[in-house]
Amino acid sequence: MGSLSIISTIFLLSISLSACHANYQTFLQCVCNQTSGHIEILQHIHPPTSPTYTYLLRNATQNPRFDSTAERPFLIVAPKEETEIRPVILCSKKLGHQIRVKSGGHDYEGLSFRSETPFIMIDLSNFKEIFIYLEEETAWIQSGVKLGQLYYEIAKKSKTHAFAGGLYPTVGSGGQISGGGLGTLMRKYGLAADNVLDARIMDVSGRILDRETMGEDLFWAIRGGGGASFGVILAWKLKLVRVPENVTAFSFRRKLEPGNLNLLQKWQNTAHNISEDLFIRILVQNILKDAPGNEKIVKVTYNGLFLGPADELVSVLNESFPEFGLETEDCFKEPVGNSSCSDPPCIKKECFQVPWINSVLFFCGKKTDQPVEILLEKNVNTNFYKATSDFLKSPIPDEGWKMIHKMMLSDDRPIMIIDPLGGQMDEIGENETPFAHRKGNLFNIQYMTNWAVNSENEAGRHIKWIRNLHKEMEPYVARSPRTAYINYKDLDLGKNDKYCSYNQAKVWGEKYFKGNFERLARVKGKVDPSNFFRNEQSIPVLL
Ligand SMILES: Cc1cc2nc3c(=O)[nH]c(=O)nc-3n(C[C@H](O)[C@H](O)[C@H](O)COP(=O)(O)OP(=O)(O)OC[C@H]3O[C@@H](n4cnc5c(N)ncnc54)[C@H](O)[C@@H]3O)c2cc1C
Ligand SMILES: *[C@@H]1O[C@H](CO)[C@@H](O)[C@H](O)[C@H]1NC(C)=O
Ligand SMILES: *[C@@H]1O[C@H](CO)[C@@H](O)[C@H](O)[C@H]1NC(C)=O
Ligand SMILES: *[C@@H]1O[C@H](CO)[C@@H](O)[C@H](O)[C@H]1NC(C)=O
Ligand SMILES: *[C@@H]1O[C@H](CO)[C@@H](O)[C@H](O)[C@H]1NC(C)=O
Ligand SMILES: *[C@@H]1O[C@H](CO)[C@@H](O)[C@H](O)[C@H]1NC(C)=O
Ligand SMILES: *[C@@H]1O[C@H](CO)[C@@H](O)[C@H](O)[C@H]1NC(C)=O
Repeated sequence: MGSLSIISTIFLLSISLSACHANYQTFLQCVCNQTSGHIEILQHIHPPTSPTYTYLLRNATQNPRFDSTAERPFLIVAPKEETEIRPVILCSKKLGHQIRVKSGGHDYEGLSFRSETPFIMIDLSNFKEIFIYLEEETAWIQSGVKLGQLYYEIAKKSKTHAFAGGLYPTVGSGGQISGGGLGTLMRKYGLAADNVLDARIMDVSGRILDRETMGEDLFWAIRGGGGASFGVILAWKLKLVRVPENVTAFSFRRKLEPGNLNLLQKWQNTAHNISEDLFIRILVQNILKDAPGNEKIVKVTYNGLFLGPADELVSVLNESFPEFGLETEDCFKEPVGNSSCSDPPCIKKECFQVPWINSVLFFCGKKTDQPVEILLEKNVNTNFYKATSDFLKSPIPDEGWKMIHKMMLSDDRPIMIIDPLGGQMDEIGENETPFAHRKGNLFNIQYMTNWAVNSENEAGRHIKWIRNLHKEMEPYVARSPRTAYINYKDLDLGKNDKYCSYNQAKVWGEKYFKGNFERLARVKGKVDPSNFFRNEQSIPVLL
């Protein structure tokens, strides 16, 4: 092994001499020094001239709006072993390079794979081991594991266990869990971050710490404060949660009629305060009516998960939402309606009694009877988008919905996703984790606009639209401060100045974390006082 590695090292070094950035050679030399002979790592370092660089970067860029040559990493390191990250941190620190850590690559502002300053990307796509311990209802997963893979592996072992994370299979556990992670099980079990029992992290001096050795402050910070500010999270120990052998996933669609908002108002008054076994979110979008004139209308889709069989759901809904007219047989036959919308009343009704893993398919837009292996697919997102968020402490009044109706008609492919909180989310204290949007918050709203052609004009038009909607929503959302969710990252809320000063960062920091922002900054001051782990919205140092 020794001589082979040395030959390949010499080979790599000689390629670099001719082709690459001067940074590259110095960095390789430093890594060689640091690893004292364990040079397999050099094969996991990819300069821009290597074909593997292009391939890795393309897969990392889940947000193609930020695919700019000027902002690319000057090296990608895709480690296979935890210990390979150590020299990357130490040498980056020594040579003054920034690093960015990429798990699923879905950051809304592309902060895991782009930067205005030269940087090295640590790509965790090889960190995908999962160990499930059913007897103790826990799992250890590496931080490059994607949610789809986690859900798939749990379901392979047990039909009655799940993890309370987000809905989308290609999202990474490194980013999502460290930012909170809201999903269909949160009303019963809380966020993904609320179900973390332990973690392994590499700190700025290259030490690997677990819950015991990192201490409760840092362990607190990485469960909702965003991972990128504190170190490289290597693995999570998760608490699995129990689900019944069959759950029921359902969907109802209605036209949004500004003159008749009764059902929407009822949902707003109820969804956060019904049984914890029932989760009903809404999606607000526009659609072309398939009737003469092809008029654009706004549709509201109520998507739900009930942790129980269809006949129980039917009696629960018969009490709380008789408007949907759900009957047990609806859950065992072909759906009513289709993707087109005739007016009136633009109705669609679907219901499926299925094992939990098939409900995961439903919530990421697949069919419940598709093979669950599609949760393992690694598709690269080619959609351009911009998003932002709010939390709501009271229902949106009719005049707010009239404004939303108008706004949703004035953009091409907008969407608002409104998730009900309440239940277990109210039981967890505002300071227990950095995610401060607990009791008193009824809903989270995600606003998003999508476009297909990445011209500056197109982007500009849609970004202007979403900023405008954000402004128009102000009277209806949580205030003092107006809040937001870090996993729907939005640099419009503010950015670090070049000194990463605390007072500047407070502007966006208190939106994401309210009173927890200061504690996050103090933890940062303790574990990374030189502010090595940083980006446009990383936690600043407070000593
Ligand atoms: C289609 C889609 C659906 C979504 N659905 C949901 C949902 O249902 N619920 C929800 O809560 N959110 C959802 N999100 C938001 C998602 O949780 C965030 O975008 C999340 O940050 C993505 O994590 P990632 O690992 O894929 O991204 P990345 O871009 O890899 O990482 C995001 C951030 O975390 C940092 N980071 C990643 N891994 C590590 C690590 N191991 N150590 C230290 N820092 C790290 C990165 O540097 C970056 O700053 C969705 C996003 C998309 C695009
Ligand atoms: C590597 O080690 C050698 C010998 O100790 C030293 O001269 C050199 O500066 C080091 N290079 C880097 C980039 O750290
Ligand atoms: C689960 O649902 C399937 C299909 O609807 C049904 O055949 C099965 O009996 C159900 N299992 C339980 C435990 O209810
Ligand atoms: C939730 O419902 C209960 C009764 O079921 C009621 O007492 C309580 O006030 C409601 N809470 C909210 C926040 O609406
Ligand atoms: C719904 O409730 C009504 C009256 O409360 C009752 O008559 C009807 O049988 C119920 N339907 C179902 C499917 O439970
Ligand atoms: C959808 O349903 C409507 C009415 O039931 C029907 O006229 C239309 O052809 C269907 N469209 C598709 C794409 O199946
Ligand atoms: C990149 O994505 C493609 C599919 O889009 C997949 O086949 C390939 O394995 C991925 N590569 C890595 C390194 O994840």
